[in-house]
Amino acid sequence: AMRNELSRLVSTVQDPDQRRAFDVEMQSFFYLFTRYLSERAQSQELVWDRIKSPGDDQIVPYASLPAPKDMSLLNKLAVLKVNGGLGTSMGMTGAKSALEVKDDMTFLDLTVRQIEHLNTTNRADVPLILMTSFNTHEDTLRIIKKYANQQLRITTFNQSRYPRIAKETLLPVPKSADDDKKNWYPPGHGDVFNALLHSGVLEQLLAEGREYLFISNSDNLGAVVDEKILQHMIDSQSEFIMEVTDKTKADVKGGTLVDYDGKVRLLEVAQVPSEHMEDFKSVRKFKIFNTNNLWVNLRALKHIMEAEGMELEIIVNPKAMDDGTPVVQLETAAGAAIKHFRNGHGVNVPRSRFLPVKSCSDLLLIKSDIYSLEHGQLVINPSRMFETTPVIKLGDHFKKIQQFQKRFKKIPKILELDHLTVTGDVYFGRNVTLRGTVIVVANEGQRIDIPDGCVLENRLLSGNLTM
Ligand code: UTP
Repeated sequence: AMRNELSRLVSTVQDPDQRRAFDVEMQSFFYLFTRYLSERAQSQELVWDRIKSPGDDQIVPYASLPAPKDMSLLNKLAVLKVNGGLGTSMGMTGAKSALEVKDDMTFLDLTVRQIEHLNTTNRADVPLILMTSFNTHEDTLRIIKKYANQQLRITTFNQSRYPRIAKETLLPVPKSADDDKKNWYPPGHGDVFNALLHSGVLEQLLAEGREYLFISNSDNLGAVVDEKILQHMIDSQSEFIMEVTDKTKADVKGGTLVDYDGKVRLLEVAQVPSEHMEDFKSVRKFKIFNTNNLWVNLRALKHIMEAEGMELEIIVNPKAMDDGTPVVQLETAAGAAIKHFRNGHGVNVPRSRFLPVKSCSDLLLIKSDIYSLEHGQLVINPSRMFETTPVIKLGDHFKKIQQFQKRFKKIPKILELDHLTVTGDVYFGRNVTLRGTVIVVANEGQRIDIPDGCVLENRLLSGNLTM
């Protein structure tokens, strides 16, 4: 039934070239779907007892890597940002990378600065590749338009658009190829390998002599090119490197590298049976997590795609349509590709290489005076007295980006802050300074306004206060 419906969808495309491309896309989707059905039937779960912590040779400490011998290795490198996600958890409907994060610059602007700086300091010509989705393509083009006449080469390509699947009927939700956006989804960053192949970008990179690709999330401001890791990849003849970093109690979401029957594998939270969730989240058994900074050998990638195909573990993402109808999205994660590559392993990097914006609390920290920018890179303000950055917990009223922008007239000064918790209906005025531990709690039905110029040091504010 699914196959018939997909053929019908393909037949709704008039233009022959477009129809062919759409057909290829639906075939890839159908392949994923049939794998999903057969795995469901056989309930192919990982056998938990066979999952072991990775061995010492599977995770190399960053501090042990030697400096590169010469920088000509950059001639073989390209940088790719996966930029197909929406940042729905921050209430965004366009590309998250179009959000202004610092000094009026967006994530994309900062990435461009970072690579321009890399290229000028090393007299290199590393190109930037952006993978967009149907959700983010226009926003992305709008931002990079202003770099058209610059030295830096920027290539964009679109990732796949797959139909959402109705949970009850297991049929595609869209009724025609041009049906509403909300009936489709981008199938996760694991789609990057298919999309590189089908867009012709993989071939183009190889033709230009590029052999290595550094992939990272477009919202990870710490993911700058690191020549030591590239050199290590070459020296260790590894076809795939995953940057991992030490897990803290707050990192419960990211996947982890494990040893499964002697092979290194990515284990995502979605693959963990509920009875082992505590185990998975514990910092003891799984000490590190995947930053999604990935280094890929492009020739090996091409070979794998042609010889065996890039099968990745399916992540089933349950969602609901606006009217409540349950649907599923079948997605994949890029890091899962590690198992296909020769000598794929992890490098344990400093936390500074994982600086994502997953919530408005992260955004407040990054926008604040804790950080300043150097060539598009965030550096901790030298006047910060403490080793660590403040712990910020903004409540649900600050969850959506529009709310966040409305509730901070200006970003408070937090250079001496340790801890901030805000709950309820709270507004911050201009030039507010927060120091030590500050807790602001507006109870149900109450509103707290922090006035302009206010200094709060080790204070607990609660109730219906207007100061
Ligand atoms: P995540 O899904 O982990 O983060 O994507 P997010 O964009 O913050 O997602 P939500 O919506 O708030 O949960 C990590 C990276 O992968 C990209 C995203 O753009 C982000 O850079 N991505 C994600 C894709 O390129 N394609 C996808 O289909 C999904």
